[in-house]
Amino acid sequence: MLHQLGLFIHMVAIILAGGGSIGGVLVEKQLWIKIKNHSADARTLLPLLKSTASFIQIGIIVFLISGLIMLYSVNWAYLSQPWFVIKFILFLMLPIRGAVIGRPTLVQVGSQINQDSYSLSVLMKLKSKMDRFHFIQYSIIAMILILVIFKI
Ligand code: HEM
Repeated sequence: MLHQLGLFIHMVAIILAGGGSIGGVLVEKQLWIKIKNHSADARTLLPLLKSTASFIQIGIIVFLISGLIMLYSVNWAYLSQPWFVIKFILFLMLPIRGAVIGRPTLVQVGSQINQDSYSLSVLMKLKSKMDRFHFIQYSIIAMILILVIFKI
């Protein structure tokens, strides 16, 4: 029963983190359109990006707590299995990359567009960095799902 409860909460984490992540990508898409059009509205999208990031952060915490519940329910047996160890390392990379790459890059975008005349070339470089960041984050999530489903 404990395992099923953990799995249920794990699925809630998928909804929280997945919803926040897709929402964030959609808001970011609008942000780049507004930046390219030199629209002052771009600034108004920054608080929305903070909210979507909060959903992702809460999702990550819920993943961790529910994962620990499931591990406890199987007497930590998965800790000795390579698929789980790799999954856990990949999982840790998500918040670390978020803190080291994603967040600082968005802060740089924010400080650029808060200036009266911003440099489009600097912002386009930041856009490429964010695109690469998202691509790698989604690839890590795909690898986690493959590992957990096929247990290879
Ligand atoms: C991005 C993060 C994560 C994703 C996308 C994810 C995804 C999943 C999915 C889809 C399942 C269901 C697999 C199934 O029932 O066949 C699962 C199970 C599980 N997850 Fe996660 N998970 C994540 C993070 C974590 C973390 C951080 C932990 C540990 C602290 C963890 C521990 C577990 C355990 C123990 C199971 C049960 C495996 C089984 O009994 O088949 N997960 N995960």
